[in-house]
Amino acid sequence: MNNIVSVSVLSADFMHLQEEIEKIEKSGAQMIHFDVMDGVFVNNISFGFPVLDTINKHTDMCLDVHLMITDPLKYIDRCKKSGADIITFHIESVSDTQAVIDAIKKTGAKIGLSLKPGTPFEDAIPFMDKIDMLLIMTVEPGFGGQSFIADMTDKICTAKKYIKNNNLKVDIQVDGGINAETAGLAAEAGADILVAGSYIFKSSDINKAVNLLGFAG
Ligand code: DX5
Ligand code: ZN
Repeated sequence: MNNIVSVSVLSADFMHLQEEIEKIEKSGAQMIHFDVMDGVFVNNISFGFPVLDTINKHTDMCLDVHLMITDPLKYIDRCKKSGADIITFHIESVSDTQAVIDAIKKTGAKIGLSLKPGTPFEDAIPFMDKIDMLLIMTVEPGFGGQSFIADMTDKICTAKKYIKNNNLKVDIQVDGGINAETAGLAAEAGADILVAGSYIFKSSDINKAVNLLGFAG
């Protein structure tokens, strides 16, 4: 596959979470994307660390945690203890971005920095040599099932150029409205990791859906 696929469990059937995780494991996807929302940073509340603990006990897959919360610094250690392999936080949620990067680094998890659609790539430049992954949101964070904001492809291209020109090892992740068509646009613009929730779980053939995303672009 050309692209890494991270399946967002936000769209899973929570009554059958174990079966949903097993489906993801067999699908060929490389990561499980776990969206933590606090009802303050975004207008929605999802799930938290007890659920992540449970998923971690049942899978060896890479756990890609996307924190959409105020004061992420407070929860970095807890997040790692719950099994996070990648911890991503929003640049808009903190006044001291470097402090959160340092806290994640200390845990040994990979460091992800996320930008809302309205936040320019330039805001991330001071931190680009300190992170492992840049998450470019392609919808307003908070809800699954929204439409991909096509303008974000320019931001992806700009970030990709910056990473190449500066010889950095930073993966670009995109999240929001990813389906077989928009995956192609994002991958062509330079995305390495595609997050998808509703497209995967609404599909009648999860393996095929993951495969289409993996080879898109
Ligand atoms: C939205 C979340 C996404 C969400 C994506 O704030 O960060 O991870 O699950 O859902 P889809 O793929 O349905 O747009
Ligand atoms: Zn997410």
